Amino acid sequence: MSTIISPSLLAANFVDLKSEINMINRSEADWLHCDVMDGVFVPNISFGFPVLEAVGKICQKPLDVHLMIVHPERYVEQTARIGAMMMNVHVEAVTHLNRTIHEIHDAGMKAGVTLNPSTPVSMLEDCIEDVDMVLLMSVNPGFGGQRFIENTYAKIGRLRKLIAESGSKALIQVDGGVNGETAPLLAKAGVDVLVSGSYVFRADNPEERIHQLKNL
Ligand code: DX5
Ligand code: ZN
Repeated sequence: MSTIISPSLLAANFVDLKSEINMINRSEADWLHCDVMDGVFVPNISFGFPVLEAVGKICQKPLDVHLMIVHPERYVEQTARIGAMMMNVHVEAVTHLNRTIHEIHDAGMKAGVTLNPSTPVSMLEDCIEDVDMVLLMSVNPGFGGQRFIENTYAKIGRLRKLIAESGSKALIQVDGGVNGETAPLLAKAGVDVLVSGSYVFRADNPEERIHQLKNL
């Protein structure tokens, strides 16, 4: 199976969002990654549900929503309402993760759990069987265009081991600093889903970049 590509909307040109979504629709992208930031969990504010509702109306690719906010469990219904396929919550932001995962499933979405670069994979031991995807942050969340943290490769190995031992079917997603250099190494390391923001949207030909990532 080829790698699932989820370009990150954060790096898009917001003045011309419609053209950006049309480009995604035409491209080989599998999903659209949507970064919601609240200025509390991370030191930046991006966009919220009114924008995602509009995006969802014209985007033909499934929405992969990454919530970098405190108390993401309060927004399960709203995330479902915009038609999200996947809801990613940070383990650092949720107190009752088991309950939240079940609420996400009950709302008809896939459940993703996200780890910051310094949060160990062992945090997932008691929920890995219930989740559909684990998102490993390979930069400190909050901003696009940051440098990839090399420790991520070792972390992918630890996560693959945990998934294999538990019999979980969780996909592995990596987000942050994914570009022409890191993407082939990540695909080789067994990553199922690659998120890429600036490498795709800041290129002269974003569709070509998506094609390149899709055909590593
Ligand atoms: C960072 C976001 C990422 C970001 C990635 O906090 O979660 O999705 O858009 O951007 P690049 O690919 O530019 O590192
Ligand atoms: Zn993200």
